[in-house]
Amino acid sequence: PPGTQPRPSGGGVHSPARAAIAAPHLRTDRWWLAPAATAAGLFAFVVYSTWRAFANADYYAAPYVSPFYSPCLAQNCRTMHAGPNADLFGSWWAISPAIIILIFPLGFRLTCYYYRKAYYRGFWASPPACAVAEPHKKYTGETRFPLILQNVHRYFFYAAILVAGVLTYDTVLSFRDQHYRWGHMGLGTLVFLVNIALIWTYTISCHSCRHIVGGQLKHFSKHPVRYRAWRFVGRLNAHHMLLAWLSLASVALADFYVYLVASGVFDDPRFF
Ligand code: FES
Repeated sequence: PPGTQPRPSGGGVHSPARAAIAAPHLRTDRWWLAPAATAAGLFAFVVYSTWRAFANADYYAAPYVSPFYSPCLAQNCRTMHAGPNADLFGSWWAISPAIIILIFPLGFRLTCYYYRKAYYRGFWASPPACAVAEPHKKYTGETRFPLILQNVHRYFFYAAILVAGVLTYDTVLSFRDQHYRWGHMGLGTLVFLVNIALIWTYTISCHSCRHIVGGQLKHFSKHPVRYRAWRFVGRLNAHHMLLAWLSLASVALADFYVYLVASGVFDDPRFF
């Protein structure tokens, strides 16, 4: 027909199945803005978290332990912080405790359905946006190694539940003062409360969680409790992207707060 080009051969953009249009895409809006902003945001978090994870310092300011370092397996956490934050690995362990722990929450986020979309678009341009063809010649999706490993996400979900449990414990401990007396509250307690609320809502809004709660059922009518739980998770799941960003920001902020107090920039204001 007039205005069309002969069909190119090859894979991806050059697939014979693609409409025979010469232009790489027909979008005229600023479609590149979202992937560019996503890449910038993720890059900023990677830089910040790498710096903090390797710092191996300023991660504890009584009664707060940084979420990047919790459960804290360093030797000096034993005296500072009772409970799971003890030196399980003994004093021979010289690497920053954050390196051991961060693999779980980072693995959870790296394999998250939303983050996958975000970094496939932002960093790999695969594809960069809806209706914008990717530059690569071939597209195999997540059917081959290494991307097929993204399927471990469901197992990272269980690890993320454990990590969220530990961070909840840390938040409870933040109701103590610097001398570990209960019944106190500081600005850091508020920061921790907001962070743990966002961590839990992000974790529970996970697509794997939705499947675990309500998947593989033939009749919802025979499982009213699971049905209600599935509906609840589903409502949260609709906001998964927003929760992913908010919890990413809040966990960095909680760590930064601990860093500021631990490094002596200011004292934690106590409300009571
Ligand atoms: Fe995002 Fe599971 S899909 S955390």
